[in-house]
Amino acid sequence: MENNLKAICEIISTAFAERFGSDAQLFAAPGRINLIGEHTDYNGGFVFPGAVTQSIVAAIKPNGTRDVRLFAVDLDMEYSFNLDDEQGPSDVNQRYVYGVCREMMNHGVALDGFDAVYGGNVPLGAGMSSSAALECCFAKALSILFANDNIDPMTLTRIGQATEHKYVGVKCGIMDQFISMHGREGSLVRLDCRSGKFDYHPWHPEDYRLVLVNSCIHHELVGSPYNERRESCERVAAAAGVETLRDLTMERLNAMRSNLDATDYKRALYVLGEEQRVNKVCEALQQGDYETVGQQMYLTHEGLSKNYEVSCEEIDFLVDIARSCGVTGSRIMGGGFGGCTINLVKDSLYDLFVSTAQSAYKERFGLNCQIIPVEIGPGARKIIM
Ligand code: GLA
Repeated sequence: MENNLKAICEIISTAFAERFGSDAQLFAAPGRINLIGEHTDYNGGFVFPGAVTQSIVAAIKPNGTRDVRLFAVDLDMEYSFNLDDEQGPSDVNQRYVYGVCREMMNHGVALDGFDAVYGGNVPLGAGMSSSAALECCFAKALSILFANDNIDPMTLTRIGQATEHKYVGVKCGIMDQFISMHGREGSLVRLDCRSGKFDYHPWHPEDYRLVLVNSCIHHELVGSPYNERRESCERVAAAAGVETLRDLTMERLNAMRSNLDATDYKRALYVLGEEQRVNKVCEALQQGDYETVGQQMYLTHEGLSKNYEVSCEEIDFLVDIARSCGVTGSRIMGGGFGGCTINLVKDSLYDLFVSTAQSAYKERFGLNCQIIPVEIGPGARKIIM
C-alpha cells in the first residue's frame, strides 16, 4: 500500500478506536484528475479522467441501531442522524453521507445504523473531487457491509451523483463519481457519458509526467455558477431540439446563433469545441503524440477561460507561467472557479517549472501554490491492513 494512504488509514483507525471501540473495517475511494473533456459529461460527451492515489478513508462498524454516528477528522466535526429522518442534517458537510445512506435505502438496501470516522488527503476545494471520493467511499462500504457487495459499480456511481443533485444541490455530471468507483491503477479511462461505455487506457508516457498546481483559491461548487453553466447548455440543446449538446454540430450552432442568448452561445461553443479536442487527444494518444495532447490542453484552457468563464486570474496566471516555461500542456481542471491546473510536463523541464511556478505565484499574489504530483491509483475498495 502506498505510504501516505497507510498513514491515513492508521490515523482513521486510531480515531475510530478512541471514539467507538474496536473492529471497524476500512474503506477508501480516490479523488481524480481529468486529462481532457471538461464540462462535457452533463452534455452527453466524452471525459478522460483517472483516479489519483489521494483518497478519502473511512473506518466503519454497524451499531445495530437506526442511528448513524460520524466523526469527520479533517473538519474536526462530530455529527449524527437517524436513517429514517426525512430531512437530514442542514449543514452541507453533513449531507453527503446522509444522502448516500438515503439513496442506498431508495435502491432497496436494508441499511442499519453504523459508527464511522473518515478523513483523507484529497485537497478540499481543489477541483480533485473530494466530495465524490467521500460519496463513493461510503457507497462502496455500505454495499459491502449491508448488500454483500452485490450492487454494481455504475449503480453506486449514480447513487453518489444523486447525492450531489438531491441533497447538496450541485447538478454535476457523472465523471467524478464514475472514476472514483471505476479507477484502475496506471490507467486513465475514456468514458462516453451518453452511452456509459468506457475503456481503460494505460498511462505511462515516457519522458512526460502530470503535475497539478493548486492555486489554493477556494473552489465552491455548492450553489455556484456551475449549475448556471449547465442551464445554459440545456437551453441551447432545447432550442436546437436535441437531448444534449452532444447531438449538435458546430454548423448548426452557428446557424442558430442569432436566436440564442450571447452568453448561452459562448458556453455551447466551448462545449462543442471540447468534444473535438477530446477526439484529437484520443487519436494523438494512440500515436504517442504528447505534443498534440498538450496543445489541445492549452486550447481547452482558452475555451474554459474566455467562453465558459470558469477560470480566474490566479489560474490564468499559472497557465501562462507553464506556457512560458515550455510546458507541453496546461489548463484549469475540474469544475473551475479556482482549484488546480493540470500540467503535462517533460521530465527534463519539471524542476524548472515547479520552482518557477512557486516563486512567480508568490511574487504576484503573495500566496503559496501547492505542487501535487499525480499518480494514477485504484478506485473505491475495502482496505486490508
Ligand atoms: C465537476 C463535476 C463534474 C464535471 C466537472 C467539469 O467536477 O462534478 O461532473 O462536470 O466539474 O468537467
